[in-house]
Amino acid sequence: MTRPIVPGPTYEEMRDPTRLPASVREEAVSALATDELASLNLFNINWKNTGEDVERIILPKELTGVQANVIVLSGRTFPSGSMKVGPAYTTLAEAEVVNGLRPGDRSIIGPSTGNFGIGTAYVSALKGYQAVVVMPDTMSQERYERIRKYGGELDLTPGTESDVILTLERTHSEYVSRPEKYVVLAQFELMPNYRFHRHVTGDAVERAAANVGNGRVAAFVSAPGSAGTLAAGDHVKSLYPDACVVALEPRQCSTLYDGGQGQHRIEGIGDKMVTLIHNVYNTDLLMLINDEETVQGMEVAQSGTEALIDRLGLESQAAKSLQGKFGPSCICNIIGAIKTAKYLGLGPQENVVTIATDSYDRYPSVSAELYERHGGRPDVDTLEAWAKSVFLGASLGEIVDLNGPGKHGRLQRMKHDLWTRFGYGSDLIERMASQVFWDEEYGKIEEIDPAIEELRGSLKQIA
Ligand SMILES: Cc1ncc(COP(=O)(O)O)c(C=O)c1O
Repeated sequence: MTRPIVPGPTYEEMRDPTRLPASVREEAVSALATDELASLNLFNINWKNTGEDVERIILPKELTGVQANVIVLSGRTFPSGSMKVGPAYTTLAEAEVVNGLRPGDRSIIGPSTGNFGIGTAYVSALKGYQAVVVMPDTMSQERYERIRKYGGELDLTPGTESDVILTLERTHSEYVSRPEKYVVLAQFELMPNYRFHRHVTGDAVERAAANVGNGRVAAFVSAPGSAGTLAAGDHVKSLYPDACVVALEPRQCSTLYDGGQGQHRIEGIGDKMVTLIHNVYNTDLLMLINDEETVQGMEVAQSGTEALIDRLGLESQAAKSLQGKFGPSCICNIIGAIKTAKYLGLGPQENVVTIATDSYDRYPSVSAELYERHGGRPDVDTLEAWAKSVFLGASLGEIVDLNGPGKHGRLQRMKHDLWTRFGYGSDLIERMASQVFWDEEYGKIEEIDPAIEELRGSLKQIA
């Protein structure tokens, strides 16, 4: 039976939660601590839950070895523990306002390698929908447990992170083809993902650099899964046209770099495709990162505090503050940010901003596997060696400048070849070669926000 919608925020309110009525904001923040599944938590979908400002970690220079400031914007304060809940929410909210979806109508499908699936299950539970998450069957156990905890069902496809293309095929054959039963939150192809990150994450990236160095963003670094997060780079470029936007891939699955299609360990990224929503012409550099180093780097941040203090000379508080904050894709982003600072020769006034999509809480099993491969927990000498090779030793190899002749065009052709297979027209994909296309898609927020407000009615009576 169809039910009324459960209210949630507009894009503008996610970008600036102080626009919400104070009572809603207060109750939402208190719900986050006391009742994770209260629907008021929808109003906590923003980068600023911990106060008026974003959570950022300015990495100690003893760890990065570069002059520039490497700033990590943390997505762990979002409800469900990862910022991927943001695009899951906007895709569902747009289906309500644009396509007339209502709770009780149809099931929600979230194709994912984990965090978007967790976000889909979570947002669906809060908004009163049944969710099915389509994902590979060898991701970290913590991910499946969270999806089940939020009442989501799992439809598992064979393989690992780099077999996400199979989840895409399953999604299209089983679910997109039956729109009377299912609504697919297709993160790789739908624009709410782009809009969320350009508008909401983009602003948070800008805020993360405020009061550090010259306060500007010289480079924005993100390893794409769906490439949604990379859209924050479009906001950065609108502020600072000379800023450099950097995409990272696992060396073991270097699809954008040179068509590589291997297996890798960095959950959430390296999905063997140019996604439809990737504005490839706005990505300037592409870099490869070794997957094993991301796991070693995670271990250094998590259990290498003694080595960081005694051997690398970090201040005790700075070393301790790294604990609990990073999973492998976050470390991948940090390594990429260090490489970027070196490659561009950035000085002490300049800022490289990158993202921690989630945090360590969903990766203890990845540490356990590392201990198995390594023959036990690493000792302090090993952690020192890893810190020095992974972070301080980040090299200038395996970097390609996409502004070189034909490079963007090659990515554009890869996009065309993949997505025409899934029914998208060549004309649409061709239009994506122009910034006008992306600016128009972004501009739709001006119509979507009033529609969200109209559909939910007054917020005064909800808190
Ligand atoms: C842990 C993690 N890191 C990075 C990403 C990549 O983010 P995006 O899909 O916005 O490119 C994801 C996406 O699911 C993720 O789960």
